[in-house]
Amino acid sequence: MRVLITGAAKRIGRVIAIELAKRGFEVAIHYNQSRAEAEHVSQACNGAPIFQADLSKVEEIRRLFSDVRQRFGPVEALVNNAARFTRFDPLQITEADWDFIHSVNLKATFFCCQEGARQMQEAGAGRIVNISSLGGIRPWAEHAHYCASKAGVIMLTKALAKAFAPVITVNSVAPGVISFNDVDARTQAMIDATPMHRSGKPEEIAEAVHFFLTAPDFITGQILTVDGGLSER
Ligand SMILES: NC(=O)c1ccc[n+]([C@@H]2O[C@H](COP(=O)([O-])OP(=O)(O)OC[C@H]3O[C@@H](n4cnc5c(N)ncnc54)[C@H](OP(=O)(O)O)[C@@H]3O)[C@@H](O)[C@H]2O)c1
Repeated sequence: MRVLITGAAKRIGRVIAIELAKRGFEVAIHYNQSRAEAEHVSQACNGAPIFQADLSKVEEIRRLFSDVRQRFGPVEALVNNAARFTRFDPLQITEADWDFIHSVNLKATFFCCQEGARQMQEAGAGRIVNISSLGGIRPWAEHAHYCASKAGVIMLTKALAKAFAPVITVNSVAPGVISFNDVDARTQAMIDATPMHRSGKPEEIAEAVHFFLTAPDFITGQILTVDGGLSER
């Protein structure tokens, strides 16, 4: 199965690409600024093709999917992983701060779904997995703008699951804390509050993505929280 993963040069997206390639998927790696890292991921994925685009611009999304179709082939699956994350007091947030988050997290996710679905409709089948967040389910006071974008991704997932059925499934993985070498005091407090008493691993997110890519097509419109039980606190 041909799968495009957005934001796949680093961190969670990188691991999703590598894990899917290991399991026999043909992967296409999207990046924006991290070209060198994308090339490393390509090497780890049997020389998979890499594609650059700034997803905050719809015309770049359209160009990306056109390039992917030409150089890789029509996508059969899409993992919308690319996102931004910022922290602001909601009383201080500006229009630019709001648009910075929403242009990628929600708007780009929608237009990538639209472009991906057009290619999948032609093929008569397809899979979309949107990476949302625990922040789209639970309120984080200094991330109101981010939480709203990820809650939007969750509702988008459900609405598009209806819109694209029966041809395409649309599901979402909602990570809790997945830390790398960036554990500050706030992140540590969330890890301490996590019933499983640890951070999640990117491989665990990749596992959940793989599940939706291979699950029966009767599973659609679903949100799988991968958070060590944190959402239950
Ligand atoms: N890490 C966590 O604890 C956590 C928790 C909950 C949810 N999530 C979600 O899981 C996903 C991956 O998380 P992460 O922490 O691995 O993400 P990340 O490192 O913050 O971002 C992933 C990639 O998104 C790409 N990106 C950002 N802006 C872009 C733009 N304008 N155009 C194109 N690409 C853009 C970047 O690509 P380039 O580097 O190539 O520019 C970046 O490498 C995200 O959807 C995130 O919201 C993560």
